[in-house]
Amino acid sequence: MDRILVTGATGFVGRHLCRELVRRSAPVVAAVRASSPTDCLPSQVVRHVVGEIGPDTPWDAKCFEQVDTVVHLAARVHVLKERAADPAAEFFKTNVAGTERLARAAAGRVRRLVYVSSLHAMRTISSEVLTEKSVCQPDSSYGQSKLDAEQRLKAIARETGLELVIVRPPPVYGPGGVGNLLSLLRWVRRGWPLPLGGVQNQRSLVYVDNLVDALIRVITAPNAADDVFLVSDGENVSISELVRRAAAAFQQPARLLPAPASLMRLAGRISGKRSSVERMLGSLAVDISHLRQTLAWSPVFSLDESLRKTALWLEHNP
Ligand SMILES: NC(=O)c1ccc[n+]([C@@H]2O[C@H](COP(=O)([O-])OP(=O)(O)OC[C@H]3O[C@@H](n4cnc5c(N)ncnc54)[C@H](OP(=O)(O)O)[C@@H]3O)[C@@H](O)[C@H]2O)c1
Repeated sequence: MDRILVTGATGFVGRHLCRELVRRSAPVVAAVRASSPTDCLPSQVVRHVVGEIGPDTPWDAKCFEQVDTVVHLAARVHVLKERAADPAAEFFKTNVAGTERLARAAAGRVRRLVYVSSLHAMRTISSEVLTEKSVCQPDSSYGQSKLDAEQRLKAIARETGLELVIVRPPPVYGPGGVGNLLSLLRWVRRGWPLPLGGVQNQRSLVYVDNLVDALIRVITAPNAADDVFLVSDGENVSISELVRRAAAAFQQPARLLPAPASLMRLAGRISGKRSSVERMLGSLAVDISHLRQTLAWSPVFSLDESLRKTALWLEHNP
């Protein structure tokens, strides 16, 4: 494989991607901040300190020397407690202006840019199973910033001939993961009774190593250029089914209570977690036929295998 520049290499997805690229003997350069925890990266990964990703990142030609493909993962994401006075402006600065700045610096120097967007660029709740053809109606500042970045990248790709591939993952889970999905798995592990027994929604998720495998496919496949791909573990489940399957992965019984949705909504409002509760109750599922058919890709690990691997990690990282 040719040389790959990875931004966000020290994040959850980035660490798994760099490890797998090194395992497959690809030369990897990580564009990091001075403060990034680079100890988590394999020693073979070349570190290149570029500082903050934003509208003024000083990308220099050296970053792109012999680089064939850039995988852009760095983003303002997983903001658990928002402290910014203007969150939309902060999302814009890193996710939109930072992405545009990188693409302008990379165009003419590299062949391809793989942009890891998010399913939230489409929406956070949807009664329809989404495909790449579904209309994007982001309903969060984060999702809007991801969609805006996609649109700017498309314009730059048209202007410059840079090959662009956009991947929109649903929530990602696995060893080292963060966010609501990992919290849910921790609650299941602790055997907490969860009031989700009656929830009949449809959700997609993706195990981090399935996502990494799909990213490596879009890095290398010639026919991935100038396309958008949704990705998942290939199986959509309700949240109650997910709890049952996660409990099985921990080899313990699922403790599900059939609480009415109205009661959970009330609890969400009282606890200030309204949008988290809405997302847990709502559906957000994808159809990955386009990825399967265009790139002959299918998930390496089944949902149950992926949950078992995550459960094993959680046993040691409660
Ligand atoms: N995880 C998910 O569930 C999920 C779902 C859909 C899409 N995605 C997308 O996947 C990508 C990776 O997500 P992740 O879960 O790996 O996130 P993560 O663990 O929070 O990692 C974010 C990475 O971006 C870097 N970063 C953030 N802001 C930066 C800035 N201003 N300048 C330079 N570097 C910055 C961080 O660097 P430091 O190490 O220095 O902090 C870190 O390496 C993101 O683009 C995200 O939108 C993730």
